[in-house]
Amino acid sequence: MNILYVYAHPNPESLNHLLKQQAVDFFAGNNIHVSYSDLYADHFNAVASWHDFDSEIKQPQYMLAQQKAYAENKLTADIESEIKKITAANHIILQFPLWWFSTPAILKGWFDRVLVKGFAYDTGKIFDAGLLKGKTASLTVTTQSPESAYQINGVHHAGIDTFLHHIQHTLCFSGIEMLPPYVIYGAAEMNAEREEKIKEEYKRYLENIVKK
Ligand SMILES: Cc1cc2nc3c(=O)[nH]c(=O)nc-3n(C[C@H](O)[C@H](O)[C@H](O)COP(=O)(O)O)c2cc1C
Repeated sequence: MNILYVYAHPNPESLNHLLKQQAVDFFAGNNIHVSYSDLYADHFNAVASWHDFDSEIKQPQYMLAQQKAYAENKLTADIESEIKKITAANHIILQFPLWWFSTPAILKGWFDRVLVKGFAYDTGKIFDAGLLKGKTASLTVTTQSPESAYQINGVHHAGIDTFLHHIQHTLCFSGIEMLPPYVIYGAAEMNAEREEKIKEEYKRYLENIVKK
């Protein structure tokens, strides 16, 4: 199995870092091949623009410019590098804190710039016919609000699946099959005992991912 681990958190002292480190140790200890895209550490440019292509690419729409640049090998090196990592991966893990019921902007930018028309999807080549069919993906997410808030009758009036749906839909659009997410609610309520429990739980979750 070949994993791509896309990590979107700025702070090496965070709960997210602890989880990511658990994943690094798990993959290293089990000889699982993994590539990392540590978006903040890599200073990943999250802003899609015409700077993403060779200046010869003239198209009215960003997605058409992407398609042409991809076909002609005229995407910038940072996008090409992410495309290579996705191509090599069987499974993609996206790890992030829930920010405004979505991903941090840096990860949204990764979707915008890297899931290129012609590479990830194309006209008539979406969902079951998506160009990334055969790959799986999963989300590792932390929230501040407790699980009780993510209920129909809770503060947010919906379960976490509602908030993760558009992210999962984005990947499904390209043909990727989504596995169940790993969600840690109530990140503020952390102590050493809970951290140990979470590390163990995440390890078991990753074991299940690599077994598929
Ligand atoms: C800009 C921003 C937006 C946030 N939006 C949400 C939110 O929509 N729902 C929620 O439960 N927590 C929200 N939070 C809290 C984070 O999810 C929480 O701080 C994080 O999951 C904790 O993990 P960390 O310690 O690794 O950062 C937000 C935090 C920030 C900075």
